[in-house]
Amino acid sequence: MVLDAENGRIVHVGAAASAPAYDAPVIRVGLVTPALIDAHTHAAWVGHRHAEFILRMQGADYVTIANAGGGIVRSHDAVLQASEDEIFDVLRARLRRMARQGVGTVEVKSGYGLTIEGERKQLRAISRAASDPSLPRVVRTFLALHAVAPGVPRDEHVRRMIEELLPEVARERLADRVDAYIDAHAFTIDEGERLMSRAEALGLRCTLHAGQFADVGAAELAARRGAQSADHLEHLSRNGARALAAAGVRAVLLPIASYTLRQAPPPVALLREEGVRIVVASDANPGTAPTESLPLALALAVREYGLNVDEALTGATVEAAAALGLPSPALEVGAAATLTLWDLPHENALVMPWGAPPVVEVWRAGVSLARG
Ligand code: NIG
Ligand code: FE
Repeated sequence: MVLDAENGRIVHVGAAASAPAYDAPVIRVGLVTPALIDAHTHAAWVGHRHAEFILRMQGADYVTIANAGGGIVRSHDAVLQASEDEIFDVLRARLRRMARQGVGTVEVKSGYGLTIEGERKQLRAISRAASDPSLPRVVRTFLALHAVAPGVPRDEHVRRMIEELLPEVARERLADRVDAYIDAHAFTIDEGERLMSRAEALGLRCTLHAGQFADVGAAELAARRGAQSADHLEHLSRNGARALAAAGVRAVLLPIASYTLRQAPPPVALLREEGVRIVVASDANPGTAPTESLPLALALAVREYGLNVDEALTGATVEAAAALGLPSPALEVGAAATLTLWDLPHENALVMPWGAPPVVEVWRAGVSLARG
């Protein structure tokens, strides 16, 4: 493949030997892929959760940490105290660092705002990042049900998110899609169903955090309501996998979170047997995936989940695009380049320098986003 770096267009696809001759300076690289797509992140977080991380490393579980005032509510406090400008600045810096890891598209969830004002502020900051062509492309997700806002009765919280904020988000185009955390200690199937049916009526697609700690039927819910993806899935039944495959719902696997939480992998063999399409994402968040590295997730998907390199790579490109409702990435002559140039000899090598792949340059729609 040959890329004209003057105008960001692909001028040749095929073996190097058949490439046209150039009198301009030429840089040769060993590997070109579509720019990576990170289909699940909480990248609009601010503040730190270092105290909680140490507790977790000493054995405290997610629920104990949440009950002790850590977890999602901790990040909620930080979002409440930050201005929209501050959240945007932190997010922009983070997206730039993600680009330097070969990433050209990032899905970014809200979900640390929790109150109407907090969520609105986070979504506005995310929307500002989404309109900046010098950053990775941003897909904006309203994570409407993540935790109950402190001091608000549960039913009232759910009502506010579904009846008040969701219609506003749709009207003001503050997000591209909607998410909910459905699990034993999170939100219920009924609450998820209410959110998803309302989102559908408003023309917004959905995704779910499903089966991270327990199989409460969230995969079946995702399938029933035509979600774009069901994410996590460490706990998944054969019926759940079958439902996902039949409905064309992609499984977004998040190996950094299960690594942090010392969990067993999701049932990858079952996903393969049932024909569920697999996506791999970073889950970048300050609690369970304290990272900004999609390449680290790919390395762990291969090392910990037994994915092959093809599955990992398509999971961060073609399948990730499909899960986000984006056009399939293509390396075609004449196209504005959306690709990553790697200083690597082969795609197998991409999953080996864990979390630190040598990037030469990342392009988004013919614009250079970052150099390694
Ligand atoms: O995907 N499971 C819920 N949400 C996040 C964790 C968020 C947090 O701890 O801040 C996840 O792992
Ligand atoms: Fe998540």
